Amino acid sequence: MRVLVTGGAGYIGSHTVLALLERGDDVIVVDNFANSSPVSLERVARIAGRAPQVHRLDVADAAALDAVFAAERPEAVIHFAGLKAVGESVAEPLRYYSENLGTTFALLAAMQRHGVRTLVFSSSATVYGDHQPVPYREDGGLLDASNPYGQTKVMIERILEDVAQADPQWRIALLRYFNPIGAHESGLIGEDPRGIPNNLAPYVAQVAVGRLAEVGVFGDDYPTADGTGERDYIHVVDLAAGHVAALEHLRTRDGIRAWNLGTGRGTSVLELIAAFEKASGRPIPRRILPRRGGDLAQTWADTARAESELGWRAQRDIVDMAADSWRWQSANPQGYDSE
Ligand code: NAD
Ligand code: UD1
Repeated sequence: MRVLVTGGAGYIGSHTVLALLERGDDVIVVDNFANSSPVSLERVARIAGRAPQVHRLDVADAAALDAVFAAERPEAVIHFAGLKAVGESVAEPLRYYSENLGTTFALLAAMQRHGVRTLVFSSSATVYGDHQPVPYREDGGLLDASNPYGQTKVMIERILEDVAQADPQWRIALLRYFNPIGAHESGLIGEDPRGIPNNLAPYVAQVAVGRLAEVGVFGDDYPTADGTGERDYIHVVDLAAGHVAALEHLRTRDGIRAWNLGTGRGTSVLELIAAFEKASGRPIPRRILPRRGGDLAQTWADTARAESELGWRAQRDIVDMAADSWRWQSANPQGYDSE
């Protein structure tokens, strides 16, 4: 299949591009490298033994996108491109609404003009908001989100529902990711956040490698087994496989549907730190801090729908995730800038 991947140089995108190349697809990456490095795609090509076509452009640039669709003739699109920092979205809501919605409108218009009607969209467990019981189910009720980043995911899901309703030729997968961590087992590609990481796993990895001094644990008084927050961490290679499974499913199914991509299990902050200590063989200093505003005690996925309909389930556990993250982080202490 010829698959166009927006944001294909990023963390999840690069692992998914690799999975597509490895199964023989032709891959066209569109990325402006706003939050990534072209080195990720060179590494992907090294692992796969073949390279994607790469177009450096902003997805919001309709004319440039038109030219790519005309030249490359994709049959399906996976849309990863977007801004994703929750705190930044609270400080700069207009930028987040305009970027995340603007790129999606431009992409959908280009797909419509070029007769491409198969789309896999990167949604997030953030669309479940803070009122639903765990485990989160896809049909659990009204979607909501507590920050502008999350709201862009809710809005795009609704827009895509309307698009699919208006034209039954569309085939759309809404993939709601839980907490992607880990790296490809080669240690050649992985997560490379700019500046101080916002998320737990890359923060812990940078403490382990000596880039940061200690991990702040945001609250130890939650109603959980050890008092720290529990999340459904999912290995990024399993997540990439979920995209391949969704594309396969869309070959034979019209309409739009949402699937959770998680493991169905919660891991606490302290358990994650312990897994990284074991993987790295190094002690990881931590300090208990007050809760972070907006955080929930526990989130994890109900994975039954993805298992029964996509035939997909996560294969890797927290030990694999910490080991693979550590292999990437220790071989590339400064991320792709280490080269
Ligand atoms: P990332 O920042 O590593 O990747 C996004 C990629 O899109 C980057 O390569 C960036 O340069 C590119 N990009 C951004 N704006 C662009 C534009 N206007 N034109 C072209 N390229 C552009 O992020 P990621 O972690 O790989 O996330 C991918 C998607 O998954 C995002 O939509 C994100 O919101 C969603 N998601 C991520 C997580 C997570 O924890 N990482 C969780 C849930 C959902
Ligand atoms: C965050 C976002 C969510 C986004 C997801 C993936 C918030 C409120 N939510 O989710 O919208 O989809 O990232 O990008 O930002 N923690 C620490 N110390 C740290 C960092 C985190 O103790 O330095 C704790 C948190 O309190 C939480 C857990 O670790 O209990 C995981 O945090 P994080 O990795 O930021 O993910 P989420 O909060 O689940």
